[in-house]
Amino acid sequence: MSTHIGAKPGEIAERVLMPGDPLRAKWIAEHYLEDAKCYSTVRNMFGFTGTYQGVRLSVQGSGMGMPSASIYAHELVNEYGVDTLIRVGSCGALSESLKLRDVVAAIGSATDSNMNRARFDGLIDYAPVADFGLLRTAVEVAERRGVPMRVGPVLAADAFYTDRPDLYDRLADYGVLAVEMESAALYTIAARFKARALTVLTVSDHIKTGERTTAEERERTFAEMVEIALDTAIA
Ligand code: ADE
Repeated sequence: MSTHIGAKPGEIAERVLMPGDPLRAKWIAEHYLEDAKCYSTVRNMFGFTGTYQGVRLSVQGSGMGMPSASIYAHELVNEYGVDTLIRVGSCGALSESLKLRDVVAAIGSATDSNMNRARFDGLIDYAPVADFGLLRTAVEVAERRGVPMRVGPVLAADAFYTDRPDLYDRLADYGVLAVEMESAALYTIAARFKARALTVLTVSDHIKTGERTTAEERERTFAEMVEIALDTAIA
C-alpha cells in the first residue's frame, strides 16, 4: 500500500474518477461499476475498482481541499501508475450566467493556494490547466448526451467560507465561472507527473443569489455529471 491508500499493486485501474466525498465514490461504484471491489478504507477515504462498459476503472475519494486531493492524486499517479484523473465535484457559481445544477468543465484554475507559489519560489504564477484531449472528449460526450456543459476557468479556493466576496465578484468580471477547492492541485500534479486530468462540476450553490440545491437535486445532477466523466474516461 502507499502511505494513504490501502491498495496492493495492480488493484487500481489506470483511469480514476475522483469525487471529494468518499461516500460518493461508493455510490458511483454501486451504481455504475460491474464487479466493483473496495481496495481501500484507509481513513474511510474509500476507493473501488470495477469495470464500466467493459473497461477497467477506479473511483477514489479525494477529501476536501487541495492538501487532501494532492495526497491522493500524487499517490495514485506515482505509486499505482494511474494516468487519467477526472474529478467529479460540486461548485459555487460566481458568474450570473450560471444556474443551480448547471454542469461546468474547468479549463483552468485560478487559485489562492500557496502550493504553486512555493513550488516556483514565488517567482512564477503557474497556470494549472485541464488536459486538452480529455476536455475535448468531455465536450463531445456532453453534446452527445444533450447536456449543455459550460467550459471555462474556475477558482480553486483554500477556504470554503470567505471574508472577501469582493474578490469573487472581481474574478467573475474576469470570466471565472465558479469556485471549488481542488482543481488547481489536481491539474498541477497531473502535469508534473505526466498524467491527464480534468475537473467536471455541478453548481450546488450560487454565491451571488445565495440559492442552494437540495440533497435530492444534488444526487440527480451528480449522476448526469458522473455519466459524462465515465464516458470521457473510457473514450
Ligand atoms: N463547492 C461547492 N460550493 C462551493 C463553494 N461555495 N465554495 C467552494 N467550494 C464549493
